[in-house]
Amino acid sequence: MTRYILAIDQGTTSTRSIVFDDQGAVAGVDQREFAQSYPELGWVEHDPETIWRDVVDTARAALAKAGADASAVAAIGVANQRETVVVWDRRSGQAIHPAIVWQDRRTTDACEALRLAGHEDLVQARTGLRLDPYFSASKLAWILDHVAGAREAAKRGDLAFGTIDSFLLWRLTGGRVHATDATNASRTLLFDIHRQVWDEDLLALFDIPAGLLPDVRDNCADFGETEADLFGAPIPIRGMAGDQQAALIGQACFGQGMIKATYGTGCFMLMNTGAQPVVSNTRLLTTTAYRLNGQPTYALEGSIFVAGAAIKWLRDQLGLIVRASDTSSLATSVPDGHGVYMVPAFVGLGAPYWDPQAKGLIHGLTLDASAAHIARAALESVAFQTQDLVEAMFADGASRPSALRVDGGMAANDWLCAFLSGVIDAPVERPVNVETTALGAAFLAGLGAGVWPDLAAISQGWRLDRRFDPAMTPDQRAQSLAGWKDAVARARLRPA
Ligand code: G3P
Repeated sequence: MTRYILAIDQGTTSTRSIVFDDQGAVAGVDQREFAQSYPELGWVEHDPETIWRDVVDTARAALAKAGADASAVAAIGVANQRETVVVWDRRSGQAIHPAIVWQDRRTTDACEALRLAGHEDLVQARTGLRLDPYFSASKLAWILDHVAGAREAAKRGDLAFGTIDSFLLWRLTGGRVHATDATNASRTLLFDIHRQVWDEDLLALFDIPAGLLPDVRDNCADFGETEADLFGAPIPIRGMAGDQQAALIGQACFGQGMIKATYGTGCFMLMNTGAQPVVSNTRLLTTTAYRLNGQPTYALEGSIFVAGAAIKWLRDQLGLIVRASDTSSLATSVPDGHGVYMVPAFVGLGAPYWDPQAKGLIHGLTLDASAAHIARAALESVAFQTQDLVEAMFADGASRPSALRVDGGMAANDWLCAFLSGVIDAPVERPVNVETTALGAAFLAGLGAGVWPDLAAISQGWRLDRRFDPAMTPDQRAQSLAGWKDAVARARLRPA
């Protein structure tokens, strides 16, 4: 009898459930986009109830499409948008505030104040991260300070904090399990990635009561069982990881030096650095790649906040395209970029700039510039930002990768993959299954449930769909990159 794995991929703009069979093949998929809320300039919130409802609905729909009964599901794996903060009441299970999303910049000043007070070195040494509003801690402190009675309730132990994984786990298990995994914990700014424990100095720095925090487990672990009435029978939850780390696993980047880039809402490039955390001199992040049997493996990460979100912006805010895939035909309808550059700093700039004040811009417009040039500039910006990260990784001592493995929705775009290969001057490899985040979550759950014996079995299952080799002349490349750097400087020089 086929044993299935249910992967839940709760991302920034959509929630997806995928049922895999025990060969790693997709048996059923369901997906929902959900509303983003921007209550004030620079704020981004999600409704935790919508996220929960979509998780349950998509999981049920994916199981139905696969024809899989809950009793045939060996395990569930969860991957999630990282850093996003939920605080809920332990008795009612209700969130006390909308989820504050990783893109939210409301705590920029609070982070800057801590930086000016000289705390960045401590934060970086313990967490591998930076004092930036991107991470969870300042957002969690904001909720405790702005929701009436929250701080007192937290001190009494009445509240629970979690990133989306913890919140979903709490709901899936009917409030029986309050836990997270080592990768999600690593993004909170409260977790010592070397000792792999919550850090008391950082809890004091952000004034966070320890009683709020979830238990931190390996990526493959016993995370409990779902409530029986959710899917018709209890299903064990055996895998959990932040979505970018899940994609690293789905891409089978288990060897030191292997790199993947996932193009979703943002783009996150992770390089496996093995058992040793590598400290970056170029403002990349050091983070936990995965932790199995108590042994952490580390990664160097470049985080770009806007990739697919720029295409969504062209569609939803400008009405320039109807479907994301329209960008491909627009981009190829013009012979070149015509000197038009888009710097998609809609929520500031992440690595390697870390400038929360930068604003998006389109530069180089002339009267003959067209919608096609703007669409092309949006796609090109994704490649240029990736090159910024590649450059930073080289400066940190990484050797030239044999290839960059790409995944996520935008990786389906052949034109973008070819352009990317030219810009980074290295081969780009796209696997057959570009939904590697869900696949990674499924692999973790399958490892935990004994469906797959080890990481080697996962590596053997990785299949190349297409390889793109660089086809840009050195001159073309140098000229494009110079134009990009100039545009970035302009986005950063604009007054805040
Ligand atoms: O760190 C944020 C990241 O986890 C979001 O991923 O796939 O929703 O863009 P995604």
